[in-house]
Amino acid sequence: MAMDDLSNRILTKLAKTSRRIGATFPFVSINGKYQDFAGREEPLNWWTNSFWSGQLWLAYRETKDEFFRQTAESCEKQMDVALQRFDGLHHDVGFMWSLTAVADYKLTGNDQSRRRALLAAATLSSRFNLKGGYIRAWNDDKVGWAIVDCLMNLPLLFWASEVTKDQRFAHIARAHADTAIRAVQRPDGSVNHIVCFDPETGDVVETLGGQGFAVGSSWSRGQAWALYGFALSHKYTKETRYLDAAKRVAHYFIANICEDWVPRVDFRSPPLAGNDKDSTAGAIAAAGLLEIADNVPEHEQALYRGAAVKMVQALDQTCGAWDKSEEGLLLHGTHAYHHLGKDFPNDTPIIYGDYYFMEAVLRLKGRTELFW
Ligand code: GLY
Repeated sequence: MAMDDLSNRILTKLAKTSRRIGATFPFVSINGKYQDFAGREEPLNWWTNSFWSGQLWLAYRETKDEFFRQTAESCEKQMDVALQRFDGLHHDVGFMWSLTAVADYKLTGNDQSRRRALLAAATLSSRFNLKGGYIRAWNDDKVGWAIVDCLMNLPLLFWASEVTKDQRFAHIARAHADTAIRAVQRPDGSVNHIVCFDPETGDVVETLGGQGFAVGSSWSRGQAWALYGFALSHKYTKETRYLDAAKRVAHYFIANICEDWVPRVDFRSPPLAGNDKDSTAGAIAAAGLLEIADNVPEHEQALYRGAAVKMVQALDQTCGAWDKSEEGLLLHGTHAYHHLGKDFPNDTPIIYGDYYFMEAVLRLKGRTELFW
């Protein structure tokens, strides 16, 4: 597959969009323009706030264009207000500071970024429930809720242990990943979105459908978070059980993906009227499949790499927004099966779809170093 051509198209588009939106916090594109969602949750603690920075850092790594670096640095500095306020932070501090501060630290060695990311890791660790062995996801009365997405927040903890040479962060990450194998993953390899624990006893009380169709259904982005998240726990620990868990989700995902290689919003649901696809799930899964491919014996690699290539090709051909009037990279991102549609449509480019698409494309070009 012509990855040079695809990555050039991505970088050309990013150069243009970045000059218009600069150091803002895009989430979804509406009518072709990325909207600044800085004020969506006060102050700046909306979980998607780092994906634009992540794209800017990927672009900087490719081009060494200082504009990309300076814009990403500005986003990272602006997010200090959320870190300092503390109230309102949630488990997605992993997403938020991996693609800002950790990326900056890995690429430039910026010591202030290292400290920001360690503060975020300390916050994430503090959400661990010892009785249930899980990291609490959200705030308010959701004391016992853990969600599959959190597997993607664990790399911040593993990274913190590597940097500080203190295993406490990694112990928490392993405990959460083990709980996810036990309580989030199902015997067929698929995963629940939400698992509610009794925070006093640690027992599982119930599972919820969350952003998928219903209890017991199979929200495809949740499957993708698990596929990549388990693979990243393996990346840091080299524990086979995490790679096996990632492979189980991958096999389930590949078995359920449609013939056109773009996943449905939920693999076990009635079709969603209008748009039944979620391009973001395809992009995340493709990036995760490439991590699995690089960690299995050579004779197993083709299954995972081949599926990832098919997904990237399908996303490019059927969802790629190469028309200059659209700032997003991928059309047909879907927020949730049951979307209220108040602030934005349920069929639109979403910033994390763009990030993982770019990461997967660059990985197919041999850029295997990750910010995770
Ligand atoms: N982490 C929430 C989502 O995937 O929409």
